[in-house]
Amino acid sequence: MANNVSVESARSIPKNADAIGIPVGVTGTVPRQLGLSRSALSEHGFDGKVGQTLVVPSSNGPTLVAVGIGDARKATAATVRRSAAALARATARRSHVVTNLVDAVSLDARTAAQAAVEGFVLASYRYTDLKSGVTNPAITLTLVASGARAKGCDSGVDRGRATSSAAWTARDLANTPPAYLTARMLADRAVTLAKESGLEVEVFDNDKLAVMGCGGLLGVNRGSTEPARMVKLTYTPSGAASGHLVMVGKGITYDSGGISLKPSDAMHANMKMDMSGAAAVLSAMSALKALRCRAKVTGYLMCTDNRPSGSALAMGDVLTFRNGKTAEIHNTDAEGRLVLADGLSLGTESKPDAMIDIATLTGACLAALGTKIAGVLGTSDSFIDQVRGAAERADEPVWQLPLERDYRRLLDSNVADMRNIGGPYAGAITAALFLAEFTGEVPWAHLDIAGPMNVDGDDGWLSRGATGFGTRLLIDLALNFTKPRR
Ligand code: BES
Ligand code: MN
Ligand code: ZN
Repeated sequence: MANNVSVESARSIPKNADAIGIPVGVTGTVPRQLGLSRSALSEHGFDGKVGQTLVVPSSNGPTLVAVGIGDARKATAATVRRSAAALARATARRSHVVTNLVDAVSLDARTAAQAAVEGFVLASYRYTDLKSGVTNPAITLTLVASGARAKGCDSGVDRGRATSSAAWTARDLANTPPAYLTARMLADRAVTLAKESGLEVEVFDNDKLAVMGCGGLLGVNRGSTEPARMVKLTYTPSGAASGHLVMVGKGITYDSGGISLKPSDAMHANMKMDMSGAAAVLSAMSALKALRCRAKVTGYLMCTDNRPSGSALAMGDVLTFRNGKTAEIHNTDAEGRLVLADGLSLGTESKPDAMIDIATLTGACLAALGTKIAGVLGTSDSFIDQVRGAAERADEPVWQLPLERDYRRLLDSNVADMRNIGGPYAGAITAALFLAEFTGEVPWAHLDIAGPMNVDGDDGWLSRGATGFGTRLLIDLALNFTKPRR
């Protein structure tokens, strides 16, 4: 469902507010408006730490909520985002929430406002489309900033609206069950979103994919009763482009494992989220025009489900990809790399300045880095540094793993150019080495988001279910993109 939180920027506290978030640091004076001393606050377990809130009941007028901001002088986008998320959770049933959080921190107003909007909106997220009789109530957030900070706040609110709506869309897409979001439906959604957000869009069906030689996407699709789709999105900036960036997203709308069937555990039920990479690319690109991105960006969404059936990909089958390389299938559950291979091959053909793919690719990456951190690997440290910068600013953490060339031999095949799985160890690295075969000379980075694609329970600005991880990272990356060295 569409984002139900509307955000505005104001110079003073509006009259009709029904909750006011009052920032309180771990040190310094407690705002008089709250009517409580620091010792009274701490008696109630509130000491101003980031993430803490204390609701002060009142019999008339708006409810006051103390919002912890930690050390106001050391505030970062990440701490402001978390403070605003805590405010959203403390005021969940209020329709109009106001706060002067942006004015309370020594962080530039634009950055603070953007982070506050993101934290509040994303913490308010719920996937309710399939709950009968449940709709998300309309909520208004007003960010109050005064004097010299007002202008920055206005522009931060605009940005935050765009980035949080994009992440919201990515969450909605990933939370949608397989039968409600087939490859065809995902492509239809992409067409609608593209038209609404000023992107060019082209959809490729199985016939076109066959002509193009996309044997990886078609191979994975072979077991399905639903056809595959590839979606190509193009964002062209209005002035001269600062560079050309390609984004490729894994769009497996449901990953059963195929013939290498997954066990029916909780993880398997999350495999409706195996298109989280494609969702991140699509939703990130949908925000580029509003944010006046100066780089040209081309996106490829590689969409199909992965199913077992009489026609499904078999062990020992060999696929030929768009760039002519071949792979022998040793595990049909290693399907993400097969669909990405065609997307990356296509991406290199236009000789972009850099290319990034994003995929819920390996359980090995989840095992290595856990649910909070995505793996990043690639062929250009200078481009990976840009990715790390974007991750830092978006608070979507990544950690670089080595693209160890010595492990390439683990992919050797007796009959084809490579096999589609490595050995029992370093699964995130061997998966990336497989992808590297399709990136030619283009500086390339790969994001493995198998860990952070999902959270089991609400946590700060993450709301249970799909996280939309990577959406805001990709937006930031595109906005700050410069041609990398290889
Ligand atoms: N989509 C999965 C990876 C995944 C696992 C994502 C857990 C999110 C949470 C991927 O297609 C997969 O099945 N990978 C296999 C690869 C293996 C067969 C080499 C895996 O990680 O087990
Ligand atoms: Mn799989
Ligand atoms: Zn998968």
